[in-house]
Amino acid sequence: MTAPAVVLLGASGFLGRNILRAAAGTTVVAVSRDPSANEGMGGARWISVQQWPTELLKLRAAGPVAVINAAALTDHAHCEVDVESAMRVNARSVGEAATLCRDAGVPLIHISTDGLFSGGHPDGAPHYWSLAEPTNPVSAYGKSKLAGERALAELGWGHAVRMSFVGPSRGTGRGLIAFLARRLKAGANVEGFVDVWFTPAPIQSAAARLLKLARDANGGHSIRQWGSAPAITKHDYLSRVAVAAGFAPSMIPVRRADLPDADSVQLDQSLTCEDPWTADELIELGAQGLREELA
Ligand SMILES: NC(=O)c1ccc[n+]([C@@H]2O[C@H](COP(=O)([O-])OP(=O)(O)OC[C@H]3O[C@@H](n4cnc5c(N)ncnc54)[C@H](OP(=O)(O)O)[C@@H]3O)[C@@H](O)[C@H]2O)c1
Repeated sequence: MTAPAVVLLGASGFLGRNILRAAAGTTVVAVSRDPSANEGMGGARWISVQQWPTELLKLRAAGPVAVINAAALTDHAHCEVDVESAMRVNARSVGEAATLCRDAGVPLIHISTDGLFSGGHPDGAPHYWSLAEPTNPVSAYGKSKLAGERALAELGWGHAVRMSFVGPSRGTGRGLIAFLARRLKAGANVEGFVDVWFTPAPIQSAAARLLKLARDANGGHSIRQWGSAPAITKHDYLSRVAVAAGFAPSMIPVRRADLPDADSVQLDQSLTCEDPWTADELIELGAQGLREELA
């Protein structure tokens, strides 16, 4: 069977660039609001947001195709002050993309988030939010992402993958590994939250798994949760990755709950995960990502 071409929304972002890197050998059409700024990156053909609906139909006529949606307004502070933009990008555009895909009979893989639940845990232990539990996001970003998931559910189209991810930023400067690299380069202390639990996916491997899902998925709708097990605090993640990569930074434990905007932050982001990455894989790929980030 011919492997489907992939239309990748948000290809210039942190996850998008890692997907491009993992997609060697796959035909990828990368979508950006500014394709000329990204021309040549990742061996993809870059097109604009306005062009992709027409392009999708052309690709569909020529053979199998799948869409991965990694576009979003991810700046939490921006979402708090501009809820309308957050809802437009993270919810309404998701519904529009899903409608287009459904009408064309094209599978859609949509990246959701681990930020759909609320609450820290008084006993300081991870809770592991499951698919069966009711969502209740505290941030404007989380609320807009939930609205995006709901748009898929209403249409009955699109496979939502809830996750967070860690790994090389590939020039975006985003994520915990880029943060760690900046601190190490500066010879500075590394502050890490001891009260924020998460179950991140190693981005290099998650990108490959998303491409496999895009290859294998049929139409229709589903929600899944990906990540590592067991949960880890951000402080422990950063220190273990640094040590595994051969560094011994001065780690400063800090509490997220003590910061002024803690109300809008979910302290327990741990998810029950399907087929989780192990702690060893998570740390090993983190160390590899850190070395790439520093190279
Ligand atoms: N980073 C994390 O740890 C994390 C955790 C949980 C979930 N997620 C989800 O994973 C997905 C990818 O995240 P990421 O960290 O790779 O995001 P990112 O680095 O911010 O990239 C998102 C891309 O979306 C496009 N975009 C940004 N603002 C837009 C707007 N107003 N309208 C249309 N497109 C816009 C941009 O591409 P152009 O500028 O080229 O158009 C950008 O490169 C998102 O759905 C995010 O919610 C991320």
